[in-house]
Amino acid sequence: MRAPHQYLGALKAPHRMDLQEVNAFYRRTLDEAEDQEKLDDRLKPVPAEVFGSVVRSSAEQLEAYRRTGLEAVSRGEVGVLLLAGGQGTRLGVSYPKGMYNVGLPSSKTLYQLQSEGVRRLQQLAGEVTGRAGGTVTWYVMTSESTKEPTVRFFEQHDYFGLSADDLVFFEQGTLPCFGFDGKIILESPSRVARAPDGNGGLYRALERENMLRDMERRGVKYLHVYCVDNILVKMADPVFMGYCISRGADCGAKVVEKAFPTEAVGVVCQVDDHYQVVEYSEITLKTAQKRSADGRLAFSAGSICNHFFTLEFLKYVVSEHESELLHHVAKKKIPHVDSDGQTQKPDKPNGIKLEKFVFDVFQFSKNFAVWEVLREDEFSPLKNADGAEKDTPTTARLALCSLHQRYVLAAGGQFVDDDGRPIPLIPR
Ligand code: UD1
Repeated sequence: MRAPHQYLGALKAPHRMDLQEVNAFYRRTLDEAEDQEKLDDRLKPVPAEVFGSVVRSSAEQLEAYRRTGLEAVSRGEVGVLLLAGGQGTRLGVSYPKGMYNVGLPSSKTLYQLQSEGVRRLQQLAGEVTGRAGGTVTWYVMTSESTKEPTVRFFEQHDYFGLSADDLVFFEQGTLPCFGFDGKIILESPSRVARAPDGNGGLYRALERENMLRDMERRGVKYLHVYCVDNILVKMADPVFMGYCISRGADCGAKVVEKAFPTEAVGVVCQVDDHYQVVEYSEITLKTAQKRSADGRLAFSAGSICNHFFTLEFLKYVVSEHESELLHHVAKKKIPHVDSDGQTQKPDKPNGIKLEKFVFDVFQFSKNFAVWEVLREDEFSPLKNADGAEKDTPTTARLALCSLHQRYVLAAGGQFVDDDGRPIPLIPR
């Protein structure tokens, strides 16, 4: 049996609480909670010159981007960074979402699919460039509740064929939860209720856990940062990486066309002279419903939480701007202690969690790029349990099967039943 991953041997404590600091976060967040109507007036759609797209690019252009991306992979300059600190409450499982098996015939979990994506990418880069051996370092940001099961899961599965040295786990911090009166909530008589500090806790964690130095040491120059639950994620998609690298972008976002005004995706847009994602929980209905002359949604660049960053940009935002990133307010049901010392689980929101968002650094970009892809090829997130209207294990499973069926058909294959009759296409 392998020795435990080095990360487990050296658990750190990123949960020290500085009361003065957390109270200041609370006050600043409430004070600065923007008047959304005012923000709405300043929003503009992404201008055409930074907005590349798979469907509007020629086959030659796409191939050139792909080649650029694969060249960088073969030189070991590309890393992937998984945001895996979320609590997965909507899906309703007690373990990290990446360990979820959506019921594919192969029974592969999200983590296995992603691991295989990394392995294939390394292999492809070697084949296409003739330079074998370029590795893609995989950084996994966990949180207090996801770290141990995640690391164990990878260990138990022998890192799905990847080298343990190329997987780097690190942990984001937590913040106390507040009641609506601004007081910190106690979960039990001796324990403060705490929650991860949002996926934008990434920047603080990169610094505290020395990750930027690790990237530098390994020669990583470009990072693909992504969220765990999209079954169609293309790990360090060489076309997206190549597009951003070719444009000299320091920061980029992959988007799909938003399906309908209230879809739960953030929209990438311009506010004054910078770029920003306005999260679905923060956009007003009036703005979400705005349409352009051609009838499409005016704010249609739906973020799929797949971002590109150069290491230089990460170093810049971590050292110069991390403390300026504001927290967002999430109203939640927070278990709390009652006057008898018993922990109660409320059935409606009783307090708030403060969270930073990973995309809030876009405002500091000096050369931003947006890349639009086809939803049916690249975006099917697993958010809810079966029975919900969308983004369930069933929709994720069908989306992947449909993509693979289309790959087979495009390669000249056929699907027939026992009597040789064509099998209908899997619904997307
Ligand atoms: C997220 C995006 C949204 C995007 C949508 C696409 C953010 C803030 N929102 O929304 O713009 O349109 O995905 O599916 O990015 N996570 C952490 N630590 C935390 C909280 C979350 O690592 O403290 C991770 C989760 O594990 C997950 C990712 O961040 O991998 C996104 O979190 P989730 O809560 O699923 O975001 P959504 O609200 O779905």
